[in-house]
Formats: sequence, C-alpha cells, structure tokens
Amino acid sequence: MTPASLYIHIPWCVRKCPYCDFNSHAVRDALPETAYLAALVADLEFALPLVKGRAITSIFFGGGTPSLFSPDGIARLLTDIADRLNLPPTAEITLEANPGTVETDKLIAFRAAGINRVSLGIQSFNNTHLFALGRIHDRDEALRAATLAARHFERFNLDLMYGLPNQTLTDALADVETALEIGAPHLSCYQLTLEPNTPFAAQPPTLPDDDLCADMGEAIETRLTSAGFTHYETSAFARPDFQCEHNLNYWRFGDYLGIGAGAHSKLTVKDADGAIQTLRQMRWKSPDAYLRQTAAGNPIQEAHSVPAEQRPFEFLMNALRLSEGFSPALFASRTRLPFSVLQAKLTNAARDGLLDISDERIAPTPQGRRFLNRLLERFLD
Ligand SMILES: C[S@@+](CC[C@H](N)C(=O)[O-])C[C@H]1O[C@@H](n2cnc3c(N)ncnc32)[C@H](O)[C@@H]1O
Ligand code: SF4
Repeated sequence: MTPASLYIHIPWCVRKCPYCDFNSHAVRDALPETAYLAALVADLEFALPLVKGRAITSIFFGGGTPSLFSPDGIARLLTDIADRLNLPPTAEITLEANPGTVETDKLIAFRAAGINRVSLGIQSFNNTHLFALGRIHDRDEALRAATLAARHFERFNLDLMYGLPNQTLTDALADVETALEIGAPHLSCYQLTLEPNTPFAAQPPTLPDDDLCADMGEAIETRLTSAGFTHYETSAFARPDFQCEHNLNYWRFGDYLGIGAGAHSKLTVKDADGAIQTLRQMRWKSPDAYLRQTAAGNPIQEAHSVPAEQRPFEFLMNALRLSEGFSPALFASRTRLPFSVLQAKLTNAARDGLLDISDERIAPTPQGRRFLNRLLERFLD
C-alpha cells in the first residue's frame, strides 16, 4: 500500500495580507472552530476508503493561520485522526503559525497536543518591510515567536520573503542572519510574487528589479550553504536531517489526502474495474460551502483521474524542484509509465546544460534550477 500524507487546511487569518492568494479569509465575527473541526472529521470519515490501512507518514496543518485554532481543538482532531488512520508515532506533524498569534502557553500546548514541528510565517525581521507587507506582527513579535519556537521545538521552519518593496541586498541578508542567530534548522525563502487578483497586483508596490532579486536569491543561497544548510528545493533550505518530510512527499510525487476547505488530494487508487488510477480531488473552496456541503455528505467540489499523458509533466513539475532530482525507478513507480517516455527530452535538456543525467539520477543543474519554468516548458506537449 502506497503510504500517504495528510494535509489539513484552516482557511482563516486575522487579516488578509495584500500579496496573498492562498485560500484564506479574514475572520469576520467568531471563528467557527467547533463546526469546522466536526466537518474535518466528517470529511476524513468520507475519505477513509481511499487511505484505509496506509501509513500516514506526515500531517501538515496549513492555512490560512492554523495557530488561530485552540490547542484543545487540535489535540481532539489529532486523536480523532489517530483513531481512524494508521499514524506511526514517528510521523512528522507540522502546524503553520503566524507570529502575531502564538504566545508561550499556546505553543507549549500545541506541542502537548502532538504537534512536533512548527512553521512560522516570519517574512522579515524588518519593521519597514513587515509594514509594507501589511503583516499583523512587527520585528519584536517575530523575534519573540521565533525564539519561542527554537526553545520548544527541535524541528521548526521560518518562512522568509525577499524581493520586498524597497528592500536592499543587505536587508535581505540581515533577515537570513537573524534567522541563523535564532538557530532555525529549516528556512523557506520565497521571492515575493505579485499574484493575480490581489491588492498588490492591482496596485503594485515598487519592487527590486529582476537582477537584484536574482542577486538576493544567490546571496541567500551562498550564506546558508556556508552555514551548513542544503538548498534542497527551489525555496527550501535545511540542516542535515531537518528537511520537511511532508513537502518532500509532494515533491517526490507521493500520495496525499487533503481535507478542509479547498484542500487538494492526489491518491493512487483502484477504480471499480480494478485498474489503478491517479485520482485528484479538491474540497469545496469557500469555507461556508465546505461546511454546508460536508454536513450534507459531499465535501468534494471537483475530482478527476490524471490521464497517462499528463502524468510525466505533473511528476517533473514537482521532482525538478528538488536538487536531488529523481531516479528512473521513482518516475516509473509514481507515474506507472516507462522511463523511456522521457528519454529524448531529457537528453535534449542535458545537452543544453539544464540537467545532469547519470544512470541513477536526473537532477537540474544550477542553470536548470534558475530557469526552472523554461526547463519544464520543454516537457509540456
Ligand atoms: C500559507 S502561508 C502560511 C503562513 C502564515 N499564514 C503566515 O503568513 O504567517 C505560507 C507562506 O507563503 C509565503 N507567501 C505567501 N504569499 C506569497 C507571495 N505572494 N509571494 C511569495 N511568498 C508568499 C509566505 O512566506 C507565507 O509564510
Ligand atoms: S497570514 Fe499567511 S495565509 Fe493569511 S493572508 Fe497573510 S500570508 Fe496569507
């Protein structure tokens, strides 16, 4: 049985950030925590036939801002999950938290609830940039939350963003330096992107130009590499043994069940005729629709099986984000297609300096990683 991971989406935030296009909504009155937790359990019950008996290798509470939920609620949900699924004691269980929403007691209580990794949306330690991003926290709160995470969790991640309005190379490196001083074993460094239909896209702030952003990305990589981190995925850096298991499973095109509003699933299943399929599902995206539809026994808004001709591209979109790349055996097992379907295009990309190919592994070169979209386009048709 293919192992699977579990993603749980919590779609609320204190306030909506002007650059963010995640499925997250400002809390209007009260947070409907009890109703949502009940819906998640109902959703899981509904999905059980697809994951029954499989080991659940990791759980990730993402958002939105999952740390808005109470530790008691998260504890009950984890018990409900452990009662229904095969959850090994070693499973990585991550909760995304927002620095404006965690204090000591709450973080300790999340740990007691079973969370063994936290991911903090720091973005920057610089007040000017936090303000430009419309964040609810300032430098002091970011420092306090990150220090608390370091004290109470061995495994934690800090999200940083670069390429921010009026940010200099020195500013970007100062944020990384602060994260290193705090002792973060994992950092996600994202270049700010202007996402369609966000206030930032409608009224773009002045951003550093492409060359400066590329310099920032390179300088961050150089600094973190010299500090002992591996740049193991496009935006992710980790000390040895601190990679994020949950995200690695996505990038290795593994199976996952996503529950909660707008959550996506990708599961290898047998259809009624016994044929194996790659099933993709999406839950109802709007929190209200999700609550209503799940109560009516219908949490799925969309579902389809991924046709054979699309599976190689979907695989590569994930696997080529990883510095380690992938093995021919992984390709064959995850797509259920012979490796030979990729051969000609891989050889061309290697000839153009975008891929390194050996018998065991296909990995992007530094050039391939820098121009990942151009590399992927070659596999589109
Ligand atoms: C779903 S958010 C979760 C974290 C939490 N809600 C928070 O923001 O504190 C995941 C991360 O994606 C990154 N992110 C969100 N929108 C982005 C954008 N437009 N460009 C680059 N990174 C972005 C941020 O670093 C954010 O922490
Ligand atoms: S707190 Fe995180 S998820 Fe919420 S709006 Fe801001 S970036 Fe998006």
